[in-house]
Amino acid sequence: MTEQARYAVVGNPIEHSLSPRIHAAFAEQTGEALVYERLLAPLEGFRDAVERFFAEGGAGLNVTVPFKQQAWEMAGRHEPRAARAGAVNTLWRAADSTLIGDNTDGAGLARDLRVNNGVTLTGARVLVLGAGGAVRGILDPLLAEGPREVVIANRTPARAEELRELFADSGTLVACTFEDLAGPFDVIINGTSASLRGDLPPLPGGLITPETVCYDMMYSQAETAFNAWARQQGAGLRLDGLGMLVEQAAESFLQWRGVRPDTGPVMAMLRPA
Ligand code: ATR
Repeated sequence: MTEQARYAVVGNPIEHSLSPRIHAAFAEQTGEALVYERLLAPLEGFRDAVERFFAEGGAGLNVTVPFKQQAWEMAGRHEPRAARAGAVNTLWRAADSTLIGDNTDGAGLARDLRVNNGVTLTGARVLVLGAGGAVRGILDPLLAEGPREVVIANRTPARAEELRELFADSGTLVACTFEDLAGPFDVIINGTSASLRGDLPPLPGGLITPETVCYDMMYSQAETAFNAWARQQGAGLRLDGLGMLVEQAAESFLQWRGVRPDTGPVMAMLRPA
């Protein structure tokens, strides 16, 4: 029998992660011999869990909440798109056993917008809500698409300003508070964790036209609070984070295995029409 390479997604909690289903489907589709499991790490035991996984012959890890920042710190080398993100969602060992860290979240988001939904960011006026780790992880790939302007709005303005300064050399960035926002925008991306609790940032009116595309990086079976707001405001297209989840997984798979899976059938499996 072929030796199966071992992969896992590590987080806390982890039981609801869809990653094992996604990667199992990718492996079947591409004929790659691998297993992909869930790994629950204790809140204070992420480093140990990662070291043990690789010491026992593990080939690669995806990292999720709340360990992406620690994963970035553990990596001995970062892929360019992960360097400024300060967060890593993909780990593997190089031939010299250096731990390499990548962040495939932003590439996944950009690809879901452009390839799966035909939304172009080039020349667009983009609003990003939130300035935490999730937003840090997507800014470089978003800016690489050449938007006219990216406005970062956050409850704590200093954090938005910090990101503006950090990424200023990659494009036109503006930092502001929710109250100071002046629309309309072509694309609005929700990267706050408010959505996880069904909350919504206090957003003014006038941000949305029927042409505005709204994207919640969160995914849930039911409509998210942000997407319900976007619908009430009349946004023509509202998307949730399922496409991003599948695309970031494909990007990790590509890094590990050198082959890009076809994401369409996997998306259809997870969300039948
Ligand atoms: P993550 O890694 O998921 O981004 P984080 O770094 O804790 O987590 O960041 C959470 C983001 O959601 C922040 O932008 C946070 O705003 P603050 O920087 O002001 O804390 C935002 N956020 C969380 N709850 C929110 C709420 N109820 N309303 C508005 N923004 C919220």
